[in-house]
Amino acid sequence: MSKEKKARGYLTGREIRAIAKANKADMKRLEAYKNRKADEEEFLTEMKDPSNILEIEDLHTYFFTEQGVVKAVNGVSFNIPKNATVGIVGESGCGKSVTSMSVMRLIQGPTGQIYSGSIRFKAHDVARDAKGKPIKNEDGTYATEDKTYDIAKMPIREIHRIRGKQIAMIFQEPMTSLNPVFTIGQQLDEVTFIHTPGATKESAKARSIEMLNLVGIAMPERVYAAFPHELSGGMRQRVMIAMALAADPRLIIADEPTTALDVTIQAQILDLLRDLKDKIDGSILLITHDLGVIAEMADYVVVMYAGKVIEQGTVEEIFHNPLHPYTIGLQKSKPTLKSDDEALFNIPGNVPNPVDMPNYCYFKERCDKCVKACSGDYPCMVQVSPTHYVACHLYDKEENHG
Ligand SMILES: Nc1ncnc2c1ncn2[C@@H]1O[C@H](COP(=O)(O)OP(=O)(O)OP(=O)(O)O)[C@@H](O)[C@H]1O
Ligand code: SF4
Ligand SMILES: [Mg+2]
Repeated sequence: MSKEKKARGYLTGREIRAIAKANKADMKRLEAYKNRKADEEEFLTEMKDPSNILEIEDLHTYFFTEQGVVKAVNGVSFNIPKNATVGIVGESGCGKSVTSMSVMRLIQGPTGQIYSGSIRFKAHDVARDAKGKPIKNEDGTYATEDKTYDIAKMPIREIHRIRGKQIAMIFQEPMTSLNPVFTIGQQLDEVTFIHTPGATKESAKARSIEMLNLVGIAMPERVYAAFPHELSGGMRQRVMIAMALAADPRLIIADEPTTALDVTIQAQILDLLRDLKDKIDGSILLITHDLGVIAEMADYVVVMYAGKVIEQGTVEEIFHNPLHPYTIGLQKSKPTLKSDDEALFNIPGNVPNPVDMPNYCYFKERCDKCVKACSGDYPCMVQVSPTHYVACHLYDKEENHG
């Protein structure tokens, strides 16, 4: 947005038409790419580090709105190692959910689109011959193999290979995610029917009861026959987790899984998630704005601000040696028992307008540690340890400072 538009505070009809025209062209191109037919080779790739289960690299996810392009995820990169829990933290609107929805390819088009970048995922899927046909074993079952997909490049018609099956998602509000007119059993069985070829009514029910047991439901047969409204919030969230686990996923994405629950139930669900990660031998991507939850659950932490990763590291590095002024502010704004008589710290100012991001550090207007370089280019990621990275000019080479 030009300075003149900013001062005016509104868009003229001509400007709105120009935005609509540019948006239409981009949306059409990206929708066509999403809906194309493509051979597997087009979206097969290799992991950069074989010890990872997911590698997100320079991901851009945009919303083409009437006011302009909202760069909700603007060049995000991070990895999820096998058997690890990675927590994403950041204030409301920073792009946590859009990042996770991009991994699941649940961004609602045509307005929302993955614009560019890679999402590499180590899948275990049906083996295919040179013509793309599934290979069968002698006993009639399908042969499987490990292969890496670039989820961002997969046509949407192929996404069933991983969505719900290899990567499962647990949402914040279990009541709206469960269908009120079907029993828990019907909804759980459905997951097995969709993802397990050859499943029978009996085998699906056995799997559903097994999953309800696994998530600590004491009377699984009763819950199996119940409708969602007959269960408490905590029970519903356990059912959602059971549903996510039914297809035996390699990665679970939990987006604010405990925000709608009271503290005691919250602690139980977090304990459950922690136990399950080892039981299922998988990884967890945990999204929350609660630093306490991250400290307890995560092995690695990714801090996001305004659509970008501004710091990442192990949980010890982020909590004991936070470097970015925003991460430091986040930690200071955490309520503690000691802060009884003091006002709670809050980071002054607001996140910049997502349609009109500056080309310097997005945190500059709120930062009390600015140096000369902060008015220049957006800071690059600086590596400060093998696992700790920060995007802030304070950690650039000395000559930038003034
Ligand atoms: N359908 C949409 N159309 C336009 N903008 C959107 C849409 N969905 C999300 N956004 C924008 O994308 C940005 C990131 O949103 P996102 O939901 O990822 O935030 P979040 O970090 O998950 O926040 P919260 O903690 O509140 O859940 C926000 O600025 C939001 O306004
Ligand atoms: S780059 Fe500058 S403005 Fe941005 S967080 Fe670092 S010190 Fe603050
Ligand atoms: Mg969210």
